[in-house]
Parts: sequence; C-alpha cells; structure tokens
Amino acid sequence: MGKLSKVEAHAPVRVPLATTPLGIWGSLQAGRRNVLELIPEIATHAPILSGTTGKRWHMVMDPDALHRILREKVEDYPKSLVTKLILEPAIGNSLFVAEGAEWMWQRRTAAPVFTHRNIAALAPVMTTAATRAAARFDAAAGRAIDAFDEMVTATFEVISDVTFSGQGFERAGVHKAIEAYIGQAAKLSLLDILGAPAWVPRPGRMFSAPALRQMKKMADGSIDQRRQRPATGVPDLLDLLLEGEDPKSGRKMNVDELRDNLLTFIVAGHETTALTLAWSLYLCAFDPKVQDEARAEAQGALGDRAATVTDLPALPLIRRIVDEALRMYPPAAFLSRTALKADTLCGREIRPQDTVILPIYAMHRHHAHWKDPDAFDPSRFSDPKSVKRFSYLPFGDGPRICIGASFALQEAVIILATLLARFRFGLVPGKAPKPVMILTLRPEGGVWLTVERA
Ligand code: HEM
Repeated sequence: MGKLSKVEAHAPVRVPLATTPLGIWGSLQAGRRNVLELIPEIATHAPILSGTTGKRWHMVMDPDALHRILREKVEDYPKSLVTKLILEPAIGNSLFVAEGAEWMWQRRTAAPVFTHRNIAALAPVMTTAATRAAARFDAAAGRAIDAFDEMVTATFEVISDVTFSGQGFERAGVHKAIEAYIGQAAKLSLLDILGAPAWVPRPGRMFSAPALRQMKKMADGSIDQRRQRPATGVPDLLDLLLEGEDPKSGRKMNVDELRDNLLTFIVAGHETTALTLAWSLYLCAFDPKVQDEARAEAQGALGDRAATVTDLPALPLIRRIVDEALRMYPPAAFLSRTALKADTLCGREIRPQDTVILPIYAMHRHHAHWKDPDAFDPSRFSDPKSVKRFSYLPFGDGPRICIGASFALQEAVIILATLLARFRFGLVPGKAPKPVMILTLRPEGGVWLTVERA
C-alpha cells in the first residue's frame, strides 16, 4: 500500500466549514453536498450567528444560551417540526419526537428501563457482539476492512438482541428497512430547516412505505409472541418496557406505543454507537502512540478474554478515546429547535417561530472552549470536571438528554477494548474517511483501516 500524504498525516479528517458568507443558492448547493458545510467556520469562534434563508435562524454555540434552550426554557424550544416530519413515519409519536405531556409520561415509563443495574445486566450481549466482531476481524487480518460496516453489524446485533430477540424477528429484513430509511429520509433535513422553497427538488423524499410497514409488522409479531410467552433469564428492553408503567398515572404502553419506542431505540441507538466506534478506531489508527497505550491498557485488563462490564473501571483510556471521538465526530452533529416565545439569547432578539440550530459539531471544535480543537487528544477528558458544562453535548442535555447514553458508552468501551487488545489498526493511504452529515454524521465511503493481529 502507498504512503500517507502530508495532509493525511497532519490532522484527523474534518469537515471543510464554509469560510465565505453563503447566500441561499450557495447554501442549497453546499447542502446537497454536505449539510455540515452549511455551518460556517466562524461558528467555531462566535457565541451566536443569525441569518435569514427563507426563515429566520440562529446558530447557538454559547454554553449559557444552550443551558437556557435545553434546560431552563425547554418548553419554549420544542424540537423543530422538520425533525418530527422525518422521524414520524418510522417511529410514530414516540419518546424521541413527542412533546409536553405525551413526551413526559413516556419518559417516566422508559426511564427505569435504563437504570445502571438493567444496563449492566445486558452487558453479556455486548461482550458476545464484541467476540463475534473480533472473529470477523481475525478472518480479515492482513487486509483492509471497512470498520464502519463491521461496527454497524456489531451494534445492530446488540440492539436487536435487546429489543426484539427471539423468533418472529427477522434481523436482516428489519436492518435493511432501517438502513434504507436512515440513508434516504434525512438527506434533506437542513434544507428544510433553513426554509428552502417547496419547489427545490429534495433528494430521497420517497421513503419506502411498504418496507416500513413490513418492519412494523415484524416488530408487532415479536411483541405479541413475548406477551404470550414471557422470556426467562435477564430481562431485555422489550421485557422491561412491557412491564413498565408511568409511576404517576399508572398508564402502560399499548402495542403501538411499545413498538414505536422499541423501533426508536433501534433507530436512535445502533448507527450512532457504530459511528462512535468507527471514528474511535480511525483516531487510534491515526495516532499509533495512543493506540499502543490503549492496547497495553486493554491487554492488561483482559488478557485474551473479551471485555465485560466488570472490566470498565480498568479501561479509563479506552473510555477517554470514546469521549474524544464523540467530541470530534458527534454522531448527532446538529440539533434543531423552534422558538415558541420571544426571547433574548446572547443579547440577540429571538422571535416566535425562529429556527434555533445547535451545531454540536462546531461547538465541539469551538476555540473558546477547546485548546487546539482539531487535534486528537483523549487526555482532555482526564478530569471530566475541566470540561465546561454545555460545551460538550454529544448526547444533548436537560430533560431530553439521550436516554441511551450509558447503554451506548458501555457498549462502545466493551467493543473497542476487545478489538484493541487483539488487533493493530492502520490508515489506508488515499482512503481517508469523509465526514458527511445525513441524519447522523457519517463517513462517506466507510472507514477503511488495515487490520493486523497484535
Ligand atoms: C453514541 C450513541 C448515541 C448518541 C451520540 C446519541 C445522541 C442523542 C442525542 C444528541 C439526543 C438528544 C436529541 C435532541 O435533544 O434533539 C438523543 C436522544 C435520544 N436517544 Fe440517543 N444517542 C446515542 C445512543 C442511543 C441509544 C443506544 C439509545 C437507546 C437504546 C438512544 C435512544 C435515544 C432516545 C429514546 C432519545 C430521546 C430522548 C427524549 O427525548 O426523551 N440513543 N440521543
């Protein structure tokens, strides 16, 4: 294989943020290439940026203003309509999209499902997926693999095993339907957020309705089966949600609500975790010194076992690599809200119906909050208290913070430690991953890495 170019060796890949002010045509053209390029470079320096592109919008990077939007005034800044339009066909009015009382009872019902104890009890599923991924990597040793593709397989095994495991759930079929959906549905999202006129052609407007129907039918079948024949052993997310009820009203989820929420966990949970892992492996390949230290840590803790939940305290560097990957390549690279009331953010007037964009990608590379923000440096997270609140938001914050954050972090550390203990990863010259924003921040063309047995 060839040598790395100067650019490849210098810094981990990044999105070329826009350096000139973009008018609507520029925005639309950039939007079609890569939504993240709509975020201007200056967003990594300024506290707030505002503009009008069909609609009035504000990009907010200031931690105090973010605190106000996500925590203090959360009811005045609901998720934007466009988020709902994209997600509703697949996951209904579930936890991720609902607002107000509809959201609150579902959150109260689902919160006990994600307690530390329940998540820890599901770790063996993650260890099994890590072992299987290691076997696939072993078979590929000496060659290059697409680490993203492999990690999607691993995280889908985990999430399908803890939601609809058992008969009646055709894993490959559901996976295909979800992938097709995610791949297509949201290519247009920022165009809509920035108020592109209705006649602008939207790529991927056509979701596959029959595929979605099929997916829901399969999910309903699994729920039905589980109701008739409760599973024995460690309760998974389906069992826990079946048993769950709103502690305040006693309301329980009906089949539609159960299905929509479990599909939400699959849609929200598997690709995001796969991305975290793929970018973590890429960063380790980029920095062999960090990779060697992480391998020593993993080998010291695991020997030749796969990682389990009890190993987590012995894997602090692996955890910091995951934290840093989530900073540099946040899978949810921007969040969006619609202002309901007049307000002031960073001295700027916010009017009802203004769009408020939270550009997580730009915040995580903001020069006021991070030293040398484009550099890979897991030691930033050595002292979690040194990270200013509301400047690091890979999982959002406030009442709507990701319900699956601990689940995802536990899974990522178990899989990453298992792989680093056994393999050495290297970059493939000329095949640097290209971060592109679709529904999530994805590496276009995959994350190609060489794999050698350690
Ligand atoms: C590294 C992996 C993950 C990342 C980066 C991530 C990121 C996020 C973010 C940023 C939000 C907040 C969205 C907003 O405020 O607009 C969110 C919400 C959510 N996530 Fe995750 N997530 C991940 C894994 C998971 C997993 C594993 C699950 C479930 C098993 C999950 C389920 C959810 C749900 C249900 C919500 C909505 C919560 C609510 O509104 O009450 N996520 N996630």
